[in-house]
Amino acid sequence: MKRYSVIGNPIDHSLSPKLHNYWLKENNIDANYNKIKLEESEIKNFIQEIKEQKIIGCNVTVPFKKKVIPYLDKLSPESEKTQSVNTIIFHNNLLVGHNTDIVGFQKAIQNANYNFKNKKILILGAGGVVPSIIFALNKMNVSKIIISNRTKEKAVNLKNQFSDIDILEWGMAISYDVIINATSLGLKNESINLDYLNTSKNKLFYDVIYNPAETNFLKEGKKSGNQIENGKLMFIYQAFEAFKLWHGIEPVIDKETLKLLNND
Ligand code: ATR
Repeated sequence: MKRYSVIGNPIDHSLSPKLHNYWLKENNIDANYNKIKLEESEIKNFIQEIKEQKIIGCNVTVPFKKKVIPYLDKLSPESEKTQSVNTIIFHNNLLVGHNTDIVGFQKAIQNANYNFKNKKILILGAGGVVPSIIFALNKMNVSKIIISNRTKEKAVNLKNQFSDIDILEWGMAISYDVIINATSLGLKNESINLDYLNTSKNKLFYDVIYNPAETNFLKEGKKSGNQIENGKLMFIYQAFEAFKLWHGIEPVIDKETLKLLNND
């Protein structure tokens, strides 16, 4: 049986196995997808197993999306620009890193029926997923991207990568059309204590978090009359694109697929 995996640390929370194993079964593919918690020192050996095709392909999650890069032979242009890899394939005898988070975000936004063109976007956070979101937003021709992160240094690093973005001190207010929570605040029911969240109206509140489905950030947004979207579709579409890369098949996204992610 062919093996696929997702690697990260922590990894317990990952719903990728549920999704991929469902699609593998649906498509009668004789393969299995599991989650593996790795220490950083184990990445090299793990990737060697892909080279030897003991493992056919893998997804990569926090905190290894950048750390796997030195062990790969080639990067897709998107992975190169964002310095972020979430999918590894073995193609023409080469280990290739892809970034399907970008398409994941783009497709999720298309589904949300919100036109990002000429919109001013405020992103809270500067962690692993943010370069992919910025890359996708740039393709949507937004008017401005502003990053606000508790640790300013990380926002400054992003500006070295994407020179067009602006930086806003954490806690300072600014006007925006769309606000994206890309921090980890909300995963454990935390609130984001920023005063301006309560006064926003008719904006889009987008949370990368999908579990819980409605974070306090989204609850606040909804209460004051904003459209809200969580990160569930982004998660599903990044998996969809990885599945397509490995198996050459577009898996179905139906009610059953969406339900799979509600149980945890
Ligand atoms: P990583 O930073 O390792 O890539 P991540 O989960 O992708 O991890 O990102 C966590 C994000 O949530 C960061 O932007 C982090 O801010 P810092 O860079 O200042 O650490 C943000 N975050 C986590 N806890 C926070 C808190 N209590 N207040 C504000 N931001 C927080």
